[in-house]
Amino acid sequence: MNDYQLILTETRDRVGIVTLNRPKAYNALNYQLLTEITEALEHFDRNKDIGAMVITGNQKAFAAGADITNMVDCSSEEIQNSPFIPAFEGILGIRKPVIAAVSGYCLGGGLELALACDLIIASETASFGQPEITLGIIPGAGGTQRLPRAIGKSLSMEMILNNRTLSATEALEQGLINAVHPVEDYLDRAQDLAQEIAHRAPLAIQAAKKAINLSFQGSLAEGLIVERDIFYALFDTKDQQEGMNAFLEKRKATWKGE
Ligand code: CAA
Repeated sequence: MNDYQLILTETRDRVGIVTLNRPKAYNALNYQLLTEITEALEHFDRNKDIGAMVITGNQKAFAAGADITNMVDCSSEEIQNSPFIPAFEGILGIRKPVIAAVSGYCLGGGLELALACDLIIASETASFGQPEITLGIIPGAGGTQRLPRAIGKSLSMEMILNNRTLSATEALEQGLINAVHPVEDYLDRAQDLAQEIAHRAPLAIQAAKKAINLSFQGSLAEGLIVERDIFYALFDTKDQQEGMNAFLEKRKATWKGE
């Protein structure tokens, strides 16, 4: 856990925190950084004492995109054979909720990383953009697919075709993010939210995340069937018994994650 070079990790009251730590390059994402993020998240995902995670950068930058120095000389064949783009997918296998706590630049692959998280809490200084067009490319780690699902076609077109950036307030208005807080507070607020979620019924939380994410993949009919299966399955858990009995007995539930 301690031999990471490009991230810092800590735990606080059932929350695992991953801090991107390449400040000189505005946390530009390279293969090693993405791999370390995935390893740390997977480690927290396996730990029963952790219920949710936060990924953050620093006040100036969440991440300013993929590391351009690593891509500048790549041919199409070389970038296809590189493990770099698939490394963005590591986060998709995480079962517990992941919150992106974003301040400053959240650009290109940085926004794609935030979009792969489950919730986004921003500071007032956050700015969101997909500037790949200025480099003669397009987003390659989910931006053209997840951004329109989050904010619709028209604004996504403007952001991806014309490098339109969104301020934190605009991102909130457009439903891209969950909340905006002063820069001194955003990380604490993201941790508070993670903590609240982390203290809820663990199996139901993971089931809910899975069901919501499925709604972005298949058809409505398929999604409804899967939702019902997951709903039924939760009735074999101790937490369902505990949650419903606690309600009826007018007391606070004690979750077992079983
Ligand atoms: N890759 C590599 N290095 C980067 C970087 C990136 N994406 N973003 C910033 N840096 C580096 C700069 O090269 C610079 O390094 P040096 O000090 O060694 O020169 C350092 O970070 C600070 O950057 P600037 O001097 O440019 O700082 P600024 O305050 O003037 O500008 C910025 C900040 C607007 C974020 C600007 O750095 C910028 O535009 N960065 C690139 C953003 C971008 O195009 N992102 C998309 C990348 S492609 C992608 O992500 C593809 C994908 O879908 C996966």
